[in-house]
This record gives sequence, C-alpha cells and structure tokens, in this order.
Amino acid sequence: MRRFESVSSTSDEARAWARLGAPHLGFVLACEQSGGRGRRGRAWSSPSGAGFYGSMIVRPEPGAAGEAAAWLSRCTIAAGVAVARALGELGLRAMLKWPNDVLLSGRKVGGILCEAEWHRGRPAFLIVGVGLNVSHRPEDLPERPVFPASSLLIESGVLFELERVEALLVAALRRAASELEGELEGGWDGIRREWEERCAGLGELISVSEAGGKYFGVLRGLDESGALLVAGADGMRRVVVGDVAFE
Ligand code: BTN
Repeated sequence: MRRFESVSSTSDEARAWARLGAPHLGFVLACEQSGGRGRRGRAWSSPSGAGFYGSMIVRPEPGAAGEAAAWLSRCTIAAGVAVARALGELGLRAMLKWPNDVLLSGRKVGGILCEAEWHRGRPAFLIVGVGLNVSHRPEDLPERPVFPASSLLIESGVLFELERVEALLVAALRRAASELEGELEGGWDGIRREWEERCAGLGELISVSEAGGKYFGVLRGLDESGALLVAGADGMRRVVVGDVAFE
C-alpha cells in the first residue's frame, strides 16, 4: 500500500509502481488529486480530504489472459459490487449504473475507471481506479455533470470518517478480486447476480450511445462475459463500450 498527500492521479502512480513490480492487489491512495480523471477523459473532482481516491493493481491469472476482454469486463463489474458492499457496511444502499457508476438515490457518488496495460497482445495488469465522494459539499461537485452528482454527506446527512470508508473499500475491493479468481465462494456467478440486483434501470427503457450512434432498448442484465444485454427492436444487443442513459 502506498499513500500520498497529493498526486496527479492515483492510477498513474499505480501504473508506474506496477511497471516496477508492485504486488497483485497493491493499492495507491491519495488525500488529493490534481489531475483526477474519469471515463472518456472527463475530469474527476478530487478536493483534499473530501473523498476516497484509490487505485488497485490487478494482475491476471495465467488462464484469464486467454479471454482478456471478458476478464477486463468482469474486473470492472466486480469493482462496482465491491464499492456497493462497502457502502452497505455504512448502512447505505447503493445502485450501479453500467459500466460502473455508483449511485445513491439516483445520483452519482462514485465511479470506477479500469485501465489495462498490454504486453504482446495480453493484459499485463489492470489498474482499477475508484473515486468516491464522501464529504463533498455541493460547491465541490462539477457544475455541469453528465449525470447528477452527489456525495455520501449530501445523500445521508452523515459525515463519515474517511479512514473508515477507506478501510472498508480497500478490503471489499481486494475481496471481490479474489472472488473473481475463484479463491473465495461465489465466484463470477455470485458477483454477476449481485451486480444485477443492484443494477439501476433493470427491466426499463434505456438508450446506449456508442461510436456508431445511439439506440434504445430494455436493460436485461449482464452476459457471461460482463457485457450489458439490451433488448432492442432488432433483437438482443451486447454492449461492451458505450454510455447508458435512462429514458
Ligand atoms: C468515472 O466515473 O468516470 C470514473 C471516475 C474514477 C475516479 C478515480 S479517483 C482514483 C483514480 N484516479 C483517477 O485519476 N481516477 C480514478
């Protein structure tokens, strides 16, 4: 575990450390990020002492590298379940929006950014970056977010101790990674079931924006490889990359 007062991005630090041989499930944590980033190159507001900013290094098992795309999707899904479980320990019921926005009462309080490093066509390691807005006040949140943003404080009225949140998150993320490796009971099937139980918009009409355009359908769940299943007018689609919106 490496801790910093301030970094540009914990995911960049984790990547540099992983290249130098950091252990599987090694963590980089910071009190503040000056260049925190989210999916699609969006900025992730990371004011000092207000949130959890952490990145975990996941190294693939020898077998997992054969199905790299599925392994990467499953890791992302497992990380969302882990964050939701940690929030459950704090008495909060989190929902998940594919691929991995963490919602409380329909507003986004956390996000996950998974970035892989490739070596000769195989994933050498994955950096699972997790950001959670703990004591952010409205003025700490982005002015025009893509999706309504919030924090644990705003949603629950409780000022959670950052050390406690951190301990729960680190333990839950490591545990979920081990579950995925089949070292703990439940495995991928258990993770997938749990994700679907917490899936925001399940059975409802959504839209998916992909590079090729936008389409509508009913959100049906996850397939075996962690892709989103959407039933549209022309049949079932598997979504591997895209932005989901509730209609
Ligand atoms: C998203 O919802 O778009 C993902 C946000 C991920 C933010 C976390 S904070 C820790 C890690 N370091 C980063 O720069 N990003 C991730």
